Parts: sequence; C-alpha cells; structure tokens
Amino acid sequence: MTTQSDRAELADKVEALFRPFAMRGLTLANRIVMAPMTRSKSPGGVPGPEVAAYYRRRAEGGVGLIVTEGTWVPHPSASNIANAPRFYGEDALAGWSHVVEEVHAAGGKIMPQLWHVGQIDRGSATTVSGRRVGPSGMIGAMGRAVVAQEAPSTIAELEEVAEAYVVAAESAHRMGFDGVELHAAHGYFFDQFFWHVTNLRDDAYGGEITARTRLAADVVRNIRARTSPDFPIVLRMSQWKQQDYAAKVADTPQALEAWLEPLVAAGVDMFHCSQRRFWEGEFGTDLNLAGWVKKLSGKPTITVGSVTLKQDHISSHHGVASETEHNLLQLLTLLERGDFDLVAVGRALIVDPYWPVKVRAGAEDELLPYSPSALGKLE
Ligand SMILES: Cc1cc2nc3c(=O)[nH]c(=O)nc-3n(C[C@H](O)[C@H](O)[C@H](O)COP(=O)(O)O)c2cc1C
Repeated sequence: MTTQSDRAELADKVEALFRPFAMRGLTLANRIVMAPMTRSKSPGGVPGPEVAAYYRRRAEGGVGLIVTEGTWVPHPSASNIANAPRFYGEDALAGWSHVVEEVHAAGGKIMPQLWHVGQIDRGSATTVSGRRVGPSGMIGAMGRAVVAQEAPSTIAELEEVAEAYVVAAESAHRMGFDGVELHAAHGYFFDQFFWHVTNLRDDAYGGEITARTRLAADVVRNIRARTSPDFPIVLRMSQWKQQDYAAKVADTPQALEAWLEPLVAAGVDMFHCSQRRFWEGEFGTDLNLAGWVKKLSGKPTITVGSVTLKQDHISSHHGVASETEHNLLQLLTLLERGDFDLVAVGRALIVDPYWPVKVRAGAEDELLPYSPSALGKLE
C-alpha cells in the first residue's frame, strides 16, 4: 500500500514523467517509452491489424514513444523465430505502414527496433539461410564455457548484414516512422561484436573496443547519410547478455567511454540502456547504466527495468509472475536528478495499456501485476 505521505510526494514529483521531450526531429509528449517486446503474433512475419490495434492502444493510453518489438532486417540470416515480424517484403511493410498510421492517429510516436540475432539460435534449428552470421562463431559463455558454433563470418557476410540494417532504416524513414532503434543489446548481432568473449576477430572488426564497435558505428553513419539529418537514431545496449547475466562489456567508466565514443561520433542520438532493474548502479556507484552513459556521452538516455514490478523480466521469461512494486518514487528521484531523460516500461504495459494514465492520476495501487500468461493474447 502507498502511504498518505508517499502519495503526496508522488503527486508532487510525477509530473516530471509528463514533461515533453525534444531531440533532433522528434518531440515527445512525455517521458514514457514502451520497451521493445517480441510478441510473435505476426503470422508469416506480417504484422496485421491486431498488431496495429495493440500499438495504437498504448498510444491512446498515453505512451510518449513506442519502440516496436524486434523486427528482422532484410537478410535471410536475421532469424526465423515463428511469427515475429519482418521489416522487409511488401506484405510486412504494408502491415507496418498501417501500424504507423494507427499510432500517429492516436497522437503517439513510434520507432521500429531493427534486429538480427547474430549467432544466437532463438528457438529454431537454423536461420532461413541455414547459416548464422556473427563475429567469431561464438554464442558466448553458457555458464562460462565458450561454445564454438561455426566458422567466423567473412567480411563480405558482415557487410551484407550491415547493409540490411541501413536498408531497413531507409524503409522506416520512407514509411514515416519517427526514428529507428538498433538492437545492439542482450548478446545479439552487434553486441556479439562489442563483447570480447564473442568477438575473437583479428581484422578491422575485432581487437580493441573501438574496432569492436566499428560495424555498428558504420551502420549508424550510413543510416544518417541515407535518411535525413532530422531522423533520430537510437541504439539499445546492455552490459548483460542472455548467455551471461553477469557479463560486462565495460568494467570501468573509462572502458564505457571508449565503447561510446565511436558510436557518438558516428551519430547515435540517444542510448537505450537495458538493465534488469533500473535502480542498480554501475561501477560501485548509485548511478545506473543510463546515468553513466548520459554522463559520458553527453547524449540523452532511456532507462528501463522492473518499473513498478517486483520480479525482473528474466524471471518472467522463466514463467514467473511478478507482483507490483512501489518503486515510482525512486524512479522519479533519479529522473529529477537528471540521471536519464526517458523511462521505458515493458511488462507493465503489456498487462495495462493505461499504465501512464493511472500513474499520472496517482493510482499506483491500481497498477496490475504481470503474468507471463498475458503473452498469450494481444490485448
Ligand atoms: C515478452 C518480452 C519480449 C521482449 N522482447 C524484446 C525485444 O524484442 N527486444 C529487446 O530489446 N528487448 C526485449 N525484451 C526486454 C524488454 O524490452 C525490457 O527491457 C525488459 O522487459 C525489462 O523491462 P520491464 O522490467 O519493464 O519488463 C522483452 C521482454 C519481454 C518481457
């Protein structure tokens, strides 16, 4: 239960979440972002009217910026997770155009999350191409043992995937999306380059962190050149990997700065800093990843992780439900302190499109708990 004095303090601070935000060509009505969440409800890779209605409901519920579920860049190796949406092909792009129209009609903003799984096998034996593409044939540390999967990709293969990202961003730009988010987190394609455990290359894309960020930086630079100066580019990053929750690409602020610098120079406009719990600080401080990235890069950041929920999303992937948690005051204190600019909300928005309305009204006690069974339907 929220106490009387908590309620008064919350009412005092909550408006900070509802201040507009502007960046490059983008103005958002508030600071609330819908986190990208794979729903696998696009048969044949085509997002249909139910997907459009699902995103529209979140815009109607007051989300300032929607980042879509991960969607495949146009390359056969991107993945073949059943019913996850493609970002190529006339049928899928027509579906996405409808999603954009619906979200815009409800006054919302939306970016697709562009995704390639790299060498991770997500629930299916192989990719459509039968060959995975990534830095070194490694999927990472499964309980510490590094697994060699197949031969490292050739430079030509890597450049093909990089080009696929740029083509997808061009499509997003043409279709009227409000920017793009590159999925460079959680141990997928770009993150496999960032992380020294999965990148053992000795060419231009391996070695020091500057080389390990090169492919992502090239993609950002090319997206900027082939879209427009006012088209926002967001990059999602994380220390943790799905293969190793304790992984650290950067174990010091200096290492983090070196990781960010080439990405900033290439033109990233905002970093989306993925954590399992937003309140956990980096490098032994009380500043979280979004806080450190903002401080070191000078760019705006998005934080995420267990906002208004007790259990983190990894436990949800293992079928664990989550009670609600009164952690909004803590979040607002960090927002007010200037640690980050935007706040992404994941599971709480799956169970309740009206989360923003309830939060603004101070109805914290009415927020809904999360159950993995909510994934069964697009509501
Ligand atoms: C069902 C589900 C699907 C997800 N799919 C993606 C995804 O496609 N891309 C991504 O970057 N993160 C994905 N995530 C992670 C979320 O974006 C978010 O970072 C995470 O759920 C933590 O936020 P929360 O605690 O508010 O749920 C997913 C999470 C869930 C629960």
